[in-house]
Amino acid sequence: MGSARKSPLAAAVLLGVLMWPALGTGCPDDADSDLCDATTTDPDEELPTSGASRSAPLVLSLALALSGHKHQSAAALGWLAALGSVPMALGADGPAGYTCGAVKDMYKDAGCCGQPDATFDVANYQIIPAPDTSVITTANPCEGTKPTASGFDNFPCADAIVGAVEQAGANVTEGYMGGMAVDATPWNLTYLEGGLCPVNVHWHYGAEHLSVGQFDEDGTGRNFSEEDDGGEDLTRRLAVARLGFQCHHFDEADPKFTTEYEWAYCVGMHVGETYEVHWPHSAAGACGTPFQYQTPFYDGVFCRGATYLAGELQHKVGVQAQVFVIVNDEDYFYPDLMRGMIMDPLGAQGFGADIAYYTGSTTGTSRDNEMCSAYSPITWQVDRKCHLISASSFDKMCADMLQQKDDMSDDLHAHGARELVSDELAADNLQRL
Ligand SMILES: *[C@@H]1O[C@H](CO)[C@@H](O)[C@H](O)[C@H]1NC(C)=O
Ligand SMILES: *[C@@H]1O[C@H](CO)[C@@H](O)[C@H](O)[C@H]1NC(C)=O
Ligand SMILES: *[C@@H]1O[C@H](CO)[C@@H](O)[C@H](O)[C@H]1NC(C)=O
Repeated sequence: MGSARKSPLAAAVLLGVLMWPALGTGCPDDADSDLCDATTTDPDEELPTSGASRSAPLVLSLALALSGHKHQSAAALGWLAALGSVPMALGADGPAGYTCGAVKDMYKDAGCCGQPDATFDVANYQIIPAPDTSVITTANPCEGTKPTASGFDNFPCADAIVGAVEQAGANVTEGYMGGMAVDATPWNLTYLEGGLCPVNVHWHYGAEHLSVGQFDEDGTGRNFSEEDDGGEDLTRRLAVARLGFQCHHFDEADPKFTTEYEWAYCVGMHVGETYEVHWPHSAAGACGTPFQYQTPFYDGVFCRGATYLAGELQHKVGVQAQVFVIVNDEDYFYPDLMRGMIMDPLGAQGFGADIAYYTGSTTGTSRDNEMCSAYSPITWQVDRKCHLISASSFDKMCADMLQQKDDMSDDLHAHGARELVSDELAADNLQRL
């Protein structure tokens, strides 16, 4: 847990770096020297040549330029120690934070050299404080509300078939009907209209759902393998995350799919790969409070207690799912991925234009077609189309997650994907509105 909470240091370092030019300006080209060791130049003597506040390139696109740069020197560690901030203290498991070299490159590329009074273009770049302190002093009311009763344990799917306990993620292709006759109907308005709010965001490596021609058996990607702890048990037994279905967008010849991104906040993520993002929603969430977002997500779903879930469970608990291929290209930036599925049905990519509605269960690799989830029925609203999204959109989301009151650091990496739910475990109520 603890390591990720130290990431605010990275922000502190950023702020520190941006103050140094006041001490002496000029950016030496030597990649291993820092911003401070240049000989002093009077900033007033230098006329703005590339006014940082006017012509700064998109700093998020600077991150593209950063790919491949890896600077770390003894000198760098020296000044960090002097500042009392040593980002190397971040655990291998946690967010990497920005390297000092990356900050320096941003600074240079924004045209700051010799212009300590110039500013990064606020329309394109934000540097925000992230101290490890908070004005909120109440204990997390959701902590430990994840049910522990054995009735919630995974159970044999043979019994799920007998009891008609529908499962997810299913085939969501138009026209698909599962083989399990169920009574439940999915919530078919927005979750907001049902009084539900998002209580978590997490994602799986590859898609758990299948949408023919979008994310299916014929999709491709870069085939990295990353570890995951299974997402469910607290013992954190790491194993290679199971890769789900992939999209069809990957093109080895196009650098936006192959140029790796310098991830500062997400962990173990890769450009060119497919991820299915889930936003669990609940009517018993701590909606509109500092405790709305929780890890594990079950703490968010059950936070206010069972009375808020009374009635038809599938209208009180639901998940939004959207599938993306990550690209290293700022044309695909979206700043608020944490809040929920991207809705832009009339836009170029048609986000949310074709949504499948059905009832199922929670997912994850602790379940398959032999062992099933007891958390059922819940509504699934799944965007059938695979979309492109910039790596920076995900990294921004991970930074936002680290700003939440609850510690979301266990959701900064991709979780493994459950195998496709078999026909006999899939509800016969899939619909498109
Ligand atoms: C998914 O459903 C579609 C539509 O019914 C079907 O054509 C396709 O074969 C199914 N795929 C799998 C793997 O079940
Ligand atoms: C939406 O769900 C309600 C309640 O289950 C149902 O009465 C209604 O017919 C559904 N609407 C559509 C368009 O399926
Ligand atoms: C990833 O694996 C698939 C299936 O094994 C293969 O077809 C594809 O070429 C691989 N992609 C890369 C970039 O190696």
